[in-house]
Amino acid sequence: MVAVPSRVQSDPRSDLVEIDRVSIAFPRSRGRGTVVAVQDVSVSIRRGEKFVILGPSGCGKSTLLTAIGGFIPVTSGEIRVHGKPVKAPTMNRVLVFQDFGQLLPWRTVLGNIEWAVARRWPRYSSAECKARSMQYVELVGLGPQAEQYPNTLSGGQKQRCAIARAFAVEPEILLMDEPFGALDAINRERMQFELNRVWAAESERVTIAFVTHDVNEAVHLGHRVMVMSRGPGRLRALVDNPSVGRPPHDGAALKLVDELRELLKDPS
Ligand SMILES: Nc1ncnc2c1ncn2[C@@H]1O[C@H](COP(=O)(O)OP(=O)(O)OP(=O)(O)O)[C@@H](O)[C@H]1O
Ligand SMILES: [Mg+2]
Repeated sequence: MVAVPSRVQSDPRSDLVEIDRVSIAFPRSRGRGTVVAVQDVSVSIRRGEKFVILGPSGCGKSTLLTAIGGFIPVTSGEIRVHGKPVKAPTMNRVLVFQDFGQLLPWRTVLGNIEWAVARRWPRYSSAECKARSMQYVELVGLGPQAEQYPNTLSGGQKQRCAIARAFAVEPEILLMDEPFGALDAINRERMQFELNRVWAAESERVTIAFVTHDVNEAVHLGHRVMVMSRGPGRLRALVDNPSVGRPPHDGAALKLVDELRELLKDPS
């Protein structure tokens, strides 16, 4: 277990995202002060790692993730990517949500991915878009469903489509907010394997920040796990995970699951 640093300890050789003393507050309704969602968080995300943000409901996970994406501003402190302050969303940072509303219902699986690829590379010919998109459809095992529309897919298939689309535009950072939250346990585990596999197939170039409140998922996916507490929105611990990607029944993984459960139980 690693102690929480009170200040950001950045290393420009390996750090891609620096979260530097960040606080984020929202105004309460009818002008009754503010809600602090994230408080004085300092941590860095390394290039090419899968970084998990774990914590109970309402502890500020989504708020922090959307701020990394540049979708909401920080109230104080700074988030930097490549050393430059994040000010707005860019195509380099793709956000994948829990619900599947992000797929275009009037486009097929292949069409959804082609749409994103064409926006990312407007100079591609339609044949180039299609070829690139098909590669990602195959990568997530949706070849047989390529011409189906989202409403004819299972939850897991929709999620694989969303993941294929996210990877196809080659983001530098993939921000995933409880993307498997709506799936049953078997599909959820399958998708975790799938994500590990696609990330490895992409030569581990993509940096993933993944939000979850599921301890097993955190241990299966994250090279490092940042635990947030509800106290409010604070960084509770930062944990290295040597058993990332190993079967969830691995002894070291189970031990870490227990440690993380204890940390989540204790709100201090
Ligand atoms: N737009 C907003 N306006 C006001 N308060 C907000 C807003 N967004 C989030 N909050 C508040 O900030 C806190 C953190 O919310 P956030 O959605 O980041 O939590 P979370 O950890 O993602 O929770 P969950 O696991 O339930 O998704 C909560 O108290 C929430 O009510
Ligand atoms: Mg959330």
